[in-house]
Amino acid sequence: MEGKPRFQTKPFLKVMGGEACFPPPVWLMRQAGRYLPEYRALRARAASFLDFCYTPALAAEATLQPVRRFGFDAAILFSDILVIPDALGQRVAFEPDQGPKLDPISTAEDVAKLNGRIDCGRLSPVFETIERVKTSLPPETALIGFCGAPWTLACYMIAGKSTPDQAPARLFAYRQRDLFQSLIDRLVQASIDYLAWQIEAGVEAVQIFDTWAGVLPVNEFERWCLMPVEAIVAGLRLRHKEARVIGFAKGVGHHLVEFAARTGVTALGLDSSTGSRWAAETFDRGVVLQGNLDPLALAAGGPALETGVRHILSAFRGRPHIFNLGHGVLPHTPIRHIELMLDFLRGGFAK
Ligand code: CP3
Repeated sequence: MEGKPRFQTKPFLKVMGGEACFPPPVWLMRQAGRYLPEYRALRARAASFLDFCYTPALAAEATLQPVRRFGFDAAILFSDILVIPDALGQRVAFEPDQGPKLDPISTAEDVAKLNGRIDCGRLSPVFETIERVKTSLPPETALIGFCGAPWTLACYMIAGKSTPDQAPARLFAYRQRDLFQSLIDRLVQASIDYLAWQIEAGVEAVQIFDTWAGVLPVNEFERWCLMPVEAIVAGLRLRHKEARVIGFAKGVGHHLVEFAARTGVTALGLDSSTGSRWAAETFDRGVVLQGNLDPLALAAGGPALETGVRHILSAFRGRPHIFNLGHGVLPHTPIRHIELMLDFLRGGFAK
């Protein structure tokens, strides 16, 4: 990526470049969020969640809050994966305590109504947020951008809301295969553009969230998770040769082996059900591993937290590893537990 210093001084980027560091650099998925009182106060200043994401002053502040409080090694852009359906022209809203609500896509006409390419103007506040964050981040802190993977986006675009098993999108993919493929193709192109623009605005790595990859049977997994993510990574690297990409395919177990080999991601995000020893033994040092403390162990604290951190540190010691959770920070997580986690990592038993 542009402006890469010859000697990397940011621990997160050192590890993304294949170096092992001890203690490992750390950031947390959903590190900006409702568990922080300063986030709740900021959130109250925007009329809606999308307004919050599209107001650079607020989104930049939300991005910086967890870095200021905890000194994480990376910030993640504050936004949401559903800005892509929004920029494709689908109606997206977040209702308080109900999660996302979209006008569900069910017919060829609904797909045809979406914009052919994403509206860069609609997303310009996101790029402005990145530029603002860059001017205020400590020099040792990296900035990560992100997008949702096409399959996970399609789950929300088709159901119009969160569902436990993504049955609406799975049925759609079985019944209207060509139409579903055309939706996925459109999302692949949108994701390439969006990630390339984020890199141009200043992010130093990007994470692709395939949160719902784990519900797919193996053939469907290949077609709707592996192939689209492979196409995004390849398309992005045509525009930014050195793009650092973290792939997070949640719930796919040993299929992570094909996921890493096919997609060529720089780093693999591991969920908490993936054995850390298995991962450390299975992937060679060419693949950076990220994860994978159980968010509930962080919420619980006590011995669950301490043994969880200890186990992860010992499993990945000596290889490139970025400490993270296996999924996002839960809203009821006590701040004290994050402080303890960092003490364990950086002082306590990390020596
Ligand atoms: O700190 C960060 O991680 C950066 C910001 C971020 C958010 N969402 C903010 C957010 C990121 C990276 C996401 C990704 C995201 N969004 C995913 C993939 C990762 C995952 O968690 O599985 C998904 C599936 C979404 C879609 C989404 N956004 C849902 C289902 C919900 C409602 C559930 C909930 O937690 O409320 C959101 C809302 C959302 N996105 C919130 C935040 C902080 C909470 C809304 C609020 O504060 O009012």
